Amino acid sequence: MASSNKGEATIQAWYMNETDEDQRLPHHCDPPEYVSLDKLAELGVLYWHLDADNYETDEEFNKIRESRGYTYSDLITCCPDKLPNYECKLKSFYEEHIHTDEEIRFLLEGSGYFDVRDNNDRWIRIWVKKGDMIVLPAGIYHRFTMDSDNHTKALRLFVGEPVWTPYNRPQDDHPIRKQYVEAFIEKDQGSHAVEAH
Ligand SMILES: [Fe+2]
Repeated sequence: MASSNKGEATIQAWYMNETDEDQRLPHHCDPPEYVSLDKLAELGVLYWHLDADNYETDEEFNKIRESRGYTYSDLITCCPDKLPNYECKLKSFYEEHIHTDEEIRFLLEGSGYFDVRDNNDRWIRIWVKKGDMIVLPAGIYHRFTMDSDNHTKALRLFVGEPVWTPYNRPQDDHPIRKQYVEAFIEKDQGSHAVEAH
């Protein structure tokens, strides 16, 4: 299983409209076009819903952390009062980019949107809230924005010494991007003929 939850809240994800409205708005298509967790898993995106209030002693969290080798963690709080140059930062998080490692976030408070490109280069918006832990694979094109509540407190995790460097699109010749495409996009194209729709 690529993801699990304890039957509590589950994240919502949907295809985005591409209007110029504020990035913090939901950007639903009309009618809304929701995306399943299975679809996210096909793109390499993992998801768990965990106990945000007692995560330090939470068995499930510690198991995930151990099995995936997440040895590093720190806290990041984003809100207009705590983040200098808030509006500027918001814009920079929203630049489409990749990383050479996984991006792992566990929401302890508030909410926000991770946008990821699907196998046809369409934006999928993933709405993460308190208790949601999400892993974006290395090499996936993505971006982040706050939603209109303007508040996120998240645990950032990493394997070993953290490297947060974003490589803005285009990165199609980057070895990590190539690896991602091979593992998640080309694999998908090969199976199109047998898809149900
Ligand atoms: Fe990122």
